[in-house]
Amino acid sequence: MRLECIECGSGFKIHERFYTCPRCRGLLEVEFGLGELKRKLNRKRLKTEPPSVWKYRAFMPILDESKIVSLGEGGTPLCRCDRLAKEVGVRELYVKFEGANPTGSFKDRGMTVGVTKALEFGVKTVACASTGNTSASLAAYAAKAGLRCLVLLPKGKVALGKLAQTLVYGAQVVAVKGNFDRALAMVCKLCEERKDIYLLNSINPFRLQGQKSIAFEIADQLGWKVPDRVVVPMGNCANIWAIYKGFFEFDAVGLTRGIPAMTGIQAEGAKPIVDAIKRGLDKFEPVKKPETIATAIRIGNPVNGPKAIRAIRASGGTAEAVSDAEIIKAQKLMGRLEGIGVEPASASTIAGLKKLVRKGAIRRDERAVCVATGHMLKDPEEAVAVSSRRSNYQRFMRRYVK
Ligand code: F0G
Repeated sequence: MRLECIECGSGFKIHERFYTCPRCRGLLEVEFGLGELKRKLNRKRLKTEPPSVWKYRAFMPILDESKIVSLGEGGTPLCRCDRLAKEVGVRELYVKFEGANPTGSFKDRGMTVGVTKALEFGVKTVACASTGNTSASLAAYAAKAGLRCLVLLPKGKVALGKLAQTLVYGAQVVAVKGNFDRALAMVCKLCEERKDIYLLNSINPFRLQGQKSIAFEIADQLGWKVPDRVVVPMGNCANIWAIYKGFFEFDAVGLTRGIPAMTGIQAEGAKPIVDAIKRGLDKFEPVKKPETIATAIRIGNPVNGPKAIRAIRASGGTAEAVSDAEIIKAQKLMGRLEGIGVEPASASTIAGLKKLVRKGAIRRDERAVCVATGHMLKDPEEAVAVSSRRSNYQRFMRRYVK
């Protein structure tokens, strides 16, 4: 295992605590030696154990397994959604329901690895900026590990459930005037200056390795086959890369064959990567004032943008933007047709897939997986506000009560 810069290719020892490349400031990635990986794999156990992040520990950058901090993350349902598939217009549709993780989002997959690394490095304090889910997750894993947790949140912009979790798990919360992008810049600067505070935003290459397990589980749950397409909401743009990397590694060691077309969805008010993909550019133009009802992905300057662009291009995928109205409609459809409650950012995947099918940009005979990244109860105020609250009392009395 080693750290490698995705821009200049420089390699560094896995024990180093860099967040970005010390030579060119490029994003770092953990690279595994294929031979070593193949040797470490226990194929029989892989085929019999139930899915969970640590089932795939051979692909995790952990040096000391005695330090693993776990709350039972991963092993989330892959729900086949036939009624929703008809509505969206694809042959076969699955929703990977990440709301079933311990703190209700996919972030737990990264934090189990990230906080374990914090213990390996011997730090006492961890920190992040967040639109809410990262902070809820980091706060929980820090509590479990006995670490102090500092979080910077955009003031007045965080969904109620996420804020409640972050507070109850005992994090120290700082409300930052401005948006997520500003909070992230502040915490990055702090962690550059203070080596005793460990940064666990998605610029941290170790955290992302845990999120690869979404890909591992999808392949595992589909009987060691990969779907044609995986649709992912993009905010800071780490997750789409992590999932791509997961499929890449499974293919490289021969557990599965091929990589799905990685398809990233952003909200219309915060779509720098969608613009770059549509224009065929390698670099993206940040959005100054990102806006959307999907607060989780209200991000204008995604740190992992270059990784997302690579994942989409290398897999023959695409990107699309959806309006808030389309997001709300999709959120309600998922609830009404399938009994799956998700927060708006997650519903953007169904809205985006439907739009791409309608435009004829993707085939109807595909087997697609949408990654529902966070639970509906993360943002209960939004869910109630967009639902009809017409009183059914009189109708109920007439029909059922004599
Ligand atoms: N979906 C949800 C529910 C999220 O919370 C996030 C990111 C994303 C999608 C996007 O993932 O950043 O890897 O592209 N939330 C971060 C946070 C920014 O602070 O909780 P990404």
